[in-house]
Amino acid sequence: MPKRTVRDLDVRGKKVLVRVDFNVPQTKSGDVADDRRIRAALPTLNDVLSRGGSLILVSHLGRPSGDPAADAPFRMDPVAARLAELIGRSVKKTDDTVGPQAQAACANLAPGEIVVLENVRFNKGEKKGDPAFAKQMAALADAYVNDAFGTCHRDEASMVAVPEQFPAARRAIGFLVEKELQILDTLLSHPKSPYLAVMGGAKVSDKILVIESLLLKVDKLLIGGAMTYTFLKAQGHSVGQSKVEADKLDVARHVLQLAGAKLVLPVDHLVASQPEAGAATKVVEGPTIPDGWFGMDIGPQTIELYSGIIRDAGTVVWNGPMGKFEVAAFATGTKAIAQALADSHGVTAVGGGESAEAVEKFGLADKVSHVSTGGGAFLESLEGKSFNSLKVIPDR
Ligand code: 3PG
Repeated sequence: MPKRTVRDLDVRGKKVLVRVDFNVPQTKSGDVADDRRIRAALPTLNDVLSRGGSLILVSHLGRPSGDPAADAPFRMDPVAARLAELIGRSVKKTDDTVGPQAQAACANLAPGEIVVLENVRFNKGEKKGDPAFAKQMAALADAYVNDAFGTCHRDEASMVAVPEQFPAARRAIGFLVEKELQILDTLLSHPKSPYLAVMGGAKVSDKILVIESLLLKVDKLLIGGAMTYTFLKAQGHSVGQSKVEADKLDVARHVLQLAGAKLVLPVDHLVASQPEAGAATKVVEGPTIPDGWFGMDIGPQTIELYSGIIRDAGTVVWNGPMGKFEVAAFATGTKAIAQALADSHGVTAVGGGESAEAVEKFGLADKVSHVSTGGGAFLESLEGKSFNSLKVIPDR
């Protein structure tokens, strides 16, 4: 059943508290390194403003420790500044979240104005889901919108206890969350076949639940990235110096047995003398990595094999890079997979921080059906989990 969305709310003259996920990657100096999550929230924010509402935006940034000096890089100022640039309006930023400054800023908010509250995780009540803290936050606004898909798997106050403070008719999801739920519905319940999952990244153990769940649905599971070597080792092959989860070989064996012929492993590899830029490289065929060499990327035959399967798929979900793509010499496989998704006529969904970063980096984000703003939230959704943050938003 679809959820109530921001378009169901009467926002004219109202203060709308939007829980956004502006937990963006930062540069060493604390600036916004990637504004994708801010851009993705703009449709909801512009909708409220264009209908005569005002905005109170609340987000976390990073994982503050509680020590104000150490937590200074997690203040929301650079995020508020980037939002002002992107939305083309002035944005007020408060130095507290529910204290006197926030209360004054919100009390005086006029239609069309925007306030960004300080990092919600600076308050102990946030992590604890504290109802008293939630009450203070809810008192700032007339309505609540959850447009923070990346945080939907968390039960923190701003995700669950705050919306609970509003009457059901004044709670909704935003357009970003609506879009994420629509694609997840396709992936979980209405995939067009052949249905394909492409999984990469370093650790099998991080992905075990999602792999188990996808294996029940997909026709094929293509494996890439460093997790390849844990699978190959579990099959008894030598993997040279490649990164392996030596204590997770039983997990890999379990997946291999469960998947049977559905699971496809790379047929060749780009290997390097060192896992870093400038190292000597060569391509090796077959399942064995020579002693002294590191498996760093899928090889050309695997690229051809995987690209063909992806192009013919009805639905593709991709999570995790095929190699260490931040080094140009090891990026070919990840770039080719991104291109194959872009060329596919099927539904193509990219989820998880690194694969989303890859499609952006290669300029292909607009060529796939969906790039999720969620990391953990996207994977947990694919595992079939339901979230309290969404249960508190009524159906339409
Ligand atoms: C994310 O980046 O996955 C979300 O913003 C949630 O952040 P968290 O893992 O620190 O809760």
